[in-house]
Amino acid sequence: MARILITSAIPYINGIKHLGNLVGSQLPADLYARFMRGRGHEVLFLCATDEHGTPAELAAAKAGKPVEEFCAEMHAVQKGIADGFRLSFDHFGRSSSQRNHRLTQHFAGKLAENGLIEEVSEKQVFSVADNRFLPDRYIEGTCPNCGYDRARGDQCENCTKQLDPTDLINPRSAISGSTDLELRQTKHLYLRQRALRDRLEAWIDSRADWPVLTTSIARKWLNDGEGLQDRGITRDLFWGVPVRKGDQPWPGMEGKVFYVWFDAPIEYIACAAEWADANGLTEADWQRWWRTDKGAADVRYVQFMGKDNVPFHTLSFPATIMGSGEPWKLVDYIKSFNYLNYDGGQFSTSQGRGVFMDQALSILPPDYWRWWLLSHAPENADSEFTWENFQASVNKDLADVLGNLVSRVTKFATSKLGDMVPAGGEFGPRETALIADLGARLRDYEAFMEAMDIRKAAAELRGIWVVGNEYLQGAAPWSAVKTDPGRAEAIVRLSLNLIRVYAILSRPFIPDAAATMMAAMGSNDWTWPDHIGKALRALPPGHPFTVPENLFRKITDEERADWQQRFSGVRG
Ligand code: MF3
Ligand code: ZN
Repeated sequence: MARILITSAIPYINGIKHLGNLVGSQLPADLYARFMRGRGHEVLFLCATDEHGTPAELAAAKAGKPVEEFCAEMHAVQKGIADGFRLSFDHFGRSSSQRNHRLTQHFAGKLAENGLIEEVSEKQVFSVADNRFLPDRYIEGTCPNCGYDRARGDQCENCTKQLDPTDLINPRSAISGSTDLELRQTKHLYLRQRALRDRLEAWIDSRADWPVLTTSIARKWLNDGEGLQDRGITRDLFWGVPVRKGDQPWPGMEGKVFYVWFDAPIEYIACAAEWADANGLTEADWQRWWRTDKGAADVRYVQFMGKDNVPFHTLSFPATIMGSGEPWKLVDYIKSFNYLNYDGGQFSTSQGRGVFMDQALSILPPDYWRWWLLSHAPENADSEFTWENFQASVNKDLADVLGNLVSRVTKFATSKLGDMVPAGGEFGPRETALIADLGARLRDYEAFMEAMDIRKAAAELRGIWVVGNEYLQGAAPWSAVKTDPGRAEAIVRLSLNLIRVYAILSRPFIPDAAATMMAAMGSNDWTWPDHIGKALRALPPGHPFTVPENLFRKITDEERADWQQRFSGVRG
């Protein structure tokens, strides 16, 4: 039995995520966690909300709520939606937790002790009306390059030119619109990432097994242009982790907080501590997942994220860990994703274009979405959600193949042979061939899942369902029952057992349907079918079963057209 630590990129607090976000981190992480648990490994699967930063402050202001209250509410909302998708986190933490405050301050203190923090004095735009320093992207004005009048202080959206706030003509606050802006002197802490460049590069070079998407992004940031830059890790904001050097004040940094991208990945660690706190466990219990001097040396740590998150996980966070000089665990494998597009364009949070997690659950149960998203995960390239494709996959894979098999077998069996696993007949050549075929497919499925080759795993699982259907079609117990009832009994015995095995294999993808199938087979034995021939005899003759509710319904053309229309723009 191995120990596997799994984290998903932690979603920002200030809104509900769309399906593209879901398939780029939380959902594949859940798939992997469920599979590894299914194989009998010890898994700790963590996620949290990423609560700090200007966007959270502004969203709270817009909602007319104190930011603490806004975050607490949104955390509960996101938790509810995660449960709705059956995301099986061992803990869903908060980057605003006291655990994260203390750990973030601890890391900053260690980095300072090791000479990796520099104090830099710089001029920054201060908005008198808003009584705050403005981050670059909250300053708007006219682009000096193209004349676009809503250019942001970091970049002009219209001509894509990179800008400094001082380049803007007629600059104003994007928060209040006020033009009463001044440049004020302020001091910030910089993490000297350049001093760690060679160690980071050697570490990335040693990860030969990482996906190309992950390493190519990391190398680009290490080598492009001027290469890895030192990074400001503090901000003049109200909401965040107060800047302290461990448990000591940091002279000259009063009233400042750490930058959200500094404290967010540290929450991966803090979340394990929160998990321990929430479950009455000890320091040792969470540290054995994170400290290589306390048992974590044999933990395998896997992270899941969208490609835009890769630089922070391959360079910034490892720089924090290495720079601390303490034996914290570094990630072993980073599974990153391209983008999912929506019906001929992009998902857009600001325009409300596409399907958001809460909306998805309001129209169909989680398994429908899980199956489509995972079987179309944007692994090697961007992929696209279309309603036609979604309808076709659900109706074919889930309803026609899997759902149909389960309902045909159980209905036929109860009506002709009673409500217990029948005892008659023997397995013959047809069954032997099926068992051999399934055995080989199962090994492939396991290999794809272990490698996190998600689309291939989904295709193999679908193949496993299909051969079951073909078997049933060919063996035709409905004909056999008329001439050779014993033969029909053997076919049904195998088919009922097949349903239980399918429940186990399908559970990482479609946990609710799997639970329904298992319950209908009157079993709760989720042991992984290492030996498929034995697993297909696990339900003995005389074992009671029931006919489950219809597992999946079909999506009609009218529904498809209606949804397509409903999710085309502005979120209502
Ligand atoms: N909140 C970020 C996003 O949604 C992800 C943060 S991941 C972590 O893109 F590393 F910071 F934790
Ligand atoms: Zn411009």
